[in-house]
Amino acid sequence: MNIHALLISRFSQALADMGIADAPVPVARSGRPEFGEYQFNGAMALAKKLKQKPRDIAAKVLEHVKLDDMASKLEIAGPGFINIHLADEWLATACQQALEDTRSGVSEQDPKTIVVDYSSPNLAKEMHVGHLRTTIIGDAVVKLLEFLGHKVIRQNHMGDWGTQFGMLLAHLSDKLNKNQVAETALSDLEDFYREAKVRFDEEEGFADRAREYVVRLQSGDQQCAELWHLFIDVSISHSEEVYKKLNVSLTRADIMGESAYNDDLAPVVAELKEKNIVVEDQGAQVAFIPELADKEGNPAVYIVQKSGGGYLYATTDLAAMRYRSGKLKADRTLILTDARQALHFKQTEIVGRKAGFMQPEQTYEHCPFGMMLGSDGKPFKTRSGGTVKLVELLDEAVERAAKLLAERDTGLDIDELKEVARKVGIGAVKYADLSKNRTTDYVFNWDTMLSFEGNTAPYLQYAYTRVQSLFRKAEVAPTALQARISIEHEQEHALAVQLLQLEEQLNVVARDATPHVLCSYLYDLASHFMSFYEACPILKSDVPAATRDSRLALAALVAKELRLGLELLGIETLDKM
Ligand code: ARG
Repeated sequence: MNIHALLISRFSQALADMGIADAPVPVARSGRPEFGEYQFNGAMALAKKLKQKPRDIAAKVLEHVKLDDMASKLEIAGPGFINIHLADEWLATACQQALEDTRSGVSEQDPKTIVVDYSSPNLAKEMHVGHLRTTIIGDAVVKLLEFLGHKVIRQNHMGDWGTQFGMLLAHLSDKLNKNQVAETALSDLEDFYREAKVRFDEEEGFADRAREYVVRLQSGDQQCAELWHLFIDVSISHSEEVYKKLNVSLTRADIMGESAYNDDLAPVVAELKEKNIVVEDQGAQVAFIPELADKEGNPAVYIVQKSGGGYLYATTDLAAMRYRSGKLKADRTLILTDARQALHFKQTEIVGRKAGFMQPEQTYEHCPFGMMLGSDGKPFKTRSGGTVKLVELLDEAVERAAKLLAERDTGLDIDELKEVARKVGIGAVKYADLSKNRTTDYVFNWDTMLSFEGNTAPYLQYAYTRVQSLFRKAEVAPTALQARISIEHEQEHALAVQLLQLEEQLNVVARDATPHVLCSYLYDLASHFMSFYEACPILKSDVPAATRDSRLALAALVAKELRLGLELLGIETLDKM
């Protein structure tokens, strides 16, 4: 159910009946309940166009618009707004349908093929907090797009190639020669990287060997390739450990690392040369981008091949664009990285479009996000100033949740507590990230994210268990409920309106890749439920059976939506906590 879309179609019809075609049909949520739930705001613009008074136009629209079923009251307000008060009976029927529908009343969208490039850690190093946001937000976006009926292709564009692998492979080779097995040698990638770097900087002859390895790797030397595979394999398993803990849906099949494009790089550059999109400049192949000129009018410089012949991050992204648009036939490509890469993707899009690597109707959407900051307002670091490993951060979240739960009177046994702590701890970290507008920086704070109050995972998980315990007390399963929803009380009305906003909000998230919109929706829903629960008694003995069942049915729909919403966000629910 999409009330907004429904109202737009009714008003469009009314305008068409009035002989007005192609006019915008602005319908918005009302700011205050006394103005109803929605407003039609089109009369003012039409008045200018038709040279009539806005209120006269509004009156004419009212004559034509068919809303007898949906609205209990329509009124003209202010300069010419039409306020729409939704009817209780209509809301009740819509909620009933949503409750009986396996999709909670959310219809599928016109299906598109959507590539989502997310997580994409660099395999030379351990996954660190810098990859938390892309992984969590990306996974929520793919789950939601899939739910809306799209064909989603996950692309984990891992950094598995580049000159730093020469140094790493030379170091690995030495360790293996000393009879170490790869898993042990690479058990801590941070340490391994640091050791290799020290040798590269200080040890006589090592840098030359590292460079030799790069050449051998690039020329397809068999032994070197095996060593590289070994390294990549162990490194991927480190990432997989994180994905598992995070309950993230990425698998090995979704990996399409930088190295996968190796064979495409030369043809990409050749094509760019042939189309005169790049020119030689001091031995390098360069695209000049006048669209992104600086203040003095100098075009931006975008290098696709270095003077020594080497390729860059940019070349690989052009190859990826060509593959996704051409082979995967992506209608949309979403790429989630931190905001510092925004310029790179802008440049890539301009150059790639000029080259015809994408069709005009295919979109290239870089979805940037801000940084995760420590309480000092600086980029999040360990106490000693190092980068925080994701695995350790997640383990700490679970430990902290366990401590908090131990202080509460949960009535759970040890095993149950452990499971609840895992769901709450991981959920808290994920939700803290998801609930912020991704474009801004955010401060990582254990206390707020683990709080049972406010817009947090524990609050929503708790709200969900409240509904579950309500059903336990009523001794009826939500699915076994045979009730007709009726809306009588003001709080029931408000809750029903909220419950019917789900599709609208999901569509916004699908369009903008902004899971925080869904978080706000769920938070509002839980808050509406709490107010309803206080104002409308359910299990008290003097409540008539029909009223009790209707209210239970509303509660069941609340639980259903909370569960669905949290599931799309990748957050687990529980029955008790
Ligand atoms: N590996 C990169 C990083 O860690 C992110 C890759 C994003 N995707 C892309 N197509 N460039 O910063």
